[in-house]
Amino acid sequence: MKLLVVKELKSGEKRVAVVPQVVSKLQALGFSVQIQAGAGEASLQSDELYQQAGATVITDIDAALSQAECVVSVNPLTKEQIGKLLPKTLLVSFAQAKRDLDSIRAAITQKVSLLSFDFLPRISRAQAADALTSQATVAGYHTMLKAASLSQRMFPLVMTASGTIRPAKVLVLGAGVAGLQVMSVAKKLGAVVSGYDVRVASKDEVKSVGATFIELDLPPLEGQGGYARELNEERSRLQQELLTPFITASDLLITTAAVPGRPAPRLVTSSMLQTMRPGSVVADMAAESGGNVEGSVPGEIIEVAGIKVWGGANIPSQMSPDASFLYSGNIVSLLGFCVKDEKLAVDLNDEVLKGSALILDGEVVNDFVKQELNEGSN
Ligand code: NAI
Repeated sequence: MKLLVVKELKSGEKRVAVVPQVVSKLQALGFSVQIQAGAGEASLQSDELYQQAGATVITDIDAALSQAECVVSVNPLTKEQIGKLLPKTLLVSFAQAKRDLDSIRAAITQKVSLLSFDFLPRISRAQAADALTSQATVAGYHTMLKAASLSQRMFPLVMTASGTIRPAKVLVLGAGVAGLQVMSVAKKLGAVVSGYDVRVASKDEVKSVGATFIELDLPPLEGQGGYARELNEERSRLQQELLTPFITASDLLITTAAVPGRPAPRLVTSSMLQTMRPGSVVADMAAESGGNVEGSVPGEIIEVAGIKVWGGANIPSQMSPDASFLYSGNIVSLLGFCVKDEKLAVDLNDEVLKGSALILDGEVVNDFVKQELNEGSN
């Protein structure tokens, strides 16, 4: 089976879907691995390293696309790339129903199959394939270090003959994968860390990384599958009011809240920011999906009343070698579910594949995609 790894075309993307370390694992599954020349460069993986690992470096990408049985990437292929594929080719990448409709439409027309990590069920059997988790872990780590570098404060308690410096206070809103990683890094840096989330289970998870859970006098907001539900206007106002004193007291505020399939909840307004001390730092990991913090801009640092507000943009890509390494492991694991007797077979009776499949040989098999396509045609 010919597996092709393409160079990412999305602007600013530095990751690569397969690193040389996993080429032998893909070969063990029955794949011959081809990689587009230069695809790994931004993740510090040269063409020579891929060749040494047993992959073939491809310069004629159009020919390779037209012969591949499986094409893997981080971002979905463009409609132009998809237009060159054979019917039944299997594509694996992140792909969202709303954001990536052009690629989805092209995949239907070309009668190929598309699996997306954005829809992988978060169950133990699929843990090794969970790319949302692997990439959020890298993103949380990077965000905390970025925020720390923007702050002029030392993090740990420092006691010297010249005086004592109190530890920095870090507040994290949203205690999912990224939020817990942020807390854990802040703790290692020596800060006093607290966290808040709307899910009941998050209390123990926050405590498990050594942070203090903030209890607000509000009912939990659990939705389907253990995820959060969206805030209504009244609940949003109350949550903002009750969180304000904690925000005022913190030196660094990191927001990571998300609700599946919805824009990021607005947790912090400009007037709440203005209650923070000058020199405080805010990092909004959800800036690209609507922003938890009013005014945050993806990929930029803005200043509000002496407070720096950093908006995250493609955060895992900022640590692309490690992000790519983890993503490659996710690719190997998900493809492991798709290979039977050295042949590709996406069996929708398997709940991992049923969850992640958006399109099978041109047929839409995911309800969110069907809904988006219907809305698009109305
Ligand atoms: P996740 O879904 O695991 O966690 C989000 C958390 O937010 C959940 O625990 C949820 O209960 C909580 N939440 C929802 N509504 C809330 C509210 N009103 N108040 C407090 N907490 C609330 O998501 P994950 O993987 O941890 O990612 C966190 C954020 O970082 C997301 O916005 C995600 O899109 C973003 N992200 C951005 C990246 C980038 O490159 N820009 C990369 C990775 C993550």
